[in-house]
Amino acid sequence: MFLGLDLGTSGLRGILLDDEHKLIAESEADIKTSYPHAGWSEQNPDDWIAACVQVTENLQLSHPKQFAALKAIGLSGQMHGATLLDADGMVLRPCILWNDTRSHREAAHLDQIPEFRAISGNIVFPGFTAPKLEWIRANEPAVFARVEKVLLPKDYLRLWLTGDYISDFSDSSGTSWLNVRAREWSDTCLELSHMALEQMPALAEGNAAAGVLRQDIMRRWNIQKPVIVAGGAADNAAMACGMGLVGDGTVVLSIGTSGVVLRAMNSYQSNTDRAVHCFCHAVPERWLQLGVTLSATNCINWLAKSLNESVAELVASLPTELSGPNPIIFLPYLSGERTPHNDSGIRSAFIGIDSATDAEDLKQAVMEGVAFALRECMDALEDGVVSTEDWFVVGGGSLSPFWLETLATILKHPLAVPTDPQLGAGIGAARLASCAATNQDYREIMTVPKATRVIEPRTDISDRYEEQYKLYKNCYQALKPVSLLRRL
Ligand code: XUL
Repeated sequence: MFLGLDLGTSGLRGILLDDEHKLIAESEADIKTSYPHAGWSEQNPDDWIAACVQVTENLQLSHPKQFAALKAIGLSGQMHGATLLDADGMVLRPCILWNDTRSHREAAHLDQIPEFRAISGNIVFPGFTAPKLEWIRANEPAVFARVEKVLLPKDYLRLWLTGDYISDFSDSSGTSWLNVRAREWSDTCLELSHMALEQMPALAEGNAAAGVLRQDIMRRWNIQKPVIVAGGAADNAAMACGMGLVGDGTVVLSIGTSGVVLRAMNSYQSNTDRAVHCFCHAVPERWLQLGVTLSATNCINWLAKSLNESVAELVASLPTELSGPNPIIFLPYLSGERTPHNDSGIRSAFIGIDSATDAEDLKQAVMEGVAFALRECMDALEDGVVSTEDWFVVGGGSLSPFWLETLATILKHPLAVPTDPQLGAGIGAARLASCAATNQDYREIMTVPKATRVIEPRTDISDRYEEQYKLYKNCYQALKPVSLLRRL
């Protein structure tokens, strides 16, 4: 038995796979996010542990025999968050999350220093970890002075599970402190942002063993034999493992809290000009390129809340099929944008509202806006080589047929939906656990799932979406001069 623990932004999911990698059980617990100021986003690391306790208790209760046979655990996590610990391993303040843009000035400053792009392979985005620490240094100096270790969210969970300070290469790629090509911490980048190697955890490949489960947790879980904890991965890299995305050019689109277009590569290739991310994969000698739009299902959650509807009600009220783009254009920049704009100061807008506009128009416009943003990410990646084979789509957003047909039409490409579109990262984490426990070649384990259905683009109306996409792109340029940061 292998357990994947996927610490996402909205919740923690546990996935139990048997020795043949068949899904045995899953369980999920919600996690609260607080937004203390505009552009800020934080979570309490204790809530991650509480969610982990709840999920593992559920799995233990529903599948006691299988849970007792656990051999290894793999971790997947939301990226970039700064969990700050003192000399006793105590949390110093709430974790500042990946979609928090408070450190935009610090990020812009670090990004001007050529070493960061050259060594880390990425733009220093405000959501990344290094600028967060610079913000702490400037605004919370007493906290900064006590920072003994910085851990990414899933690695704090590992600390609780094993007592070890360890991270993996895929997640560490999003700190701006890793040399992504060489897969090692960069003394230069650390020093340039007032940090030191001693504050970093040790590093492991995602599919390698990186610690064992603490004895007291083993007793609580009624487990007799030692349980290995694998290096694990950033959520996007774990999802790539779950979807069998390990070789050159293969593509997956993920519609989660953020939207991601993901491509696996056999070699390191950085493309900062188009604000594309380049991260280590969770398996050795492989890398990933990502186009990231910061708000995907987050836009739907926001709209549902604003319309006083549940997300389920909102989704149920959508038309069953497309009839052409809505005249309203929505720009999905609730937390600024990464690919292709690298603009943390831009904010959302509806354009074209008139007295006939109703809630249904807004819903369609929001879904189209996110789909256009994903198309921009895909266009940025297509500067490189993208395979023309199956493009899989995963994440919570893939549960809406209307959204999928919109996306396929805007991308002008069929989209395949796997059996468990929401479980990719958890399954990937459990697969990494299996690699670490058995030493089996990861290529035999990271297989491509079956597609349950394929959504075809609506070629009869795709020209109209293409026209709308051009307008959508012009809207960003028009909105830029009046965006939030320029007004503050
Ligand atoms: C990637 C990113 C998001 C988070 C979401 O750079 O910021 O996809 O990983 O959890």
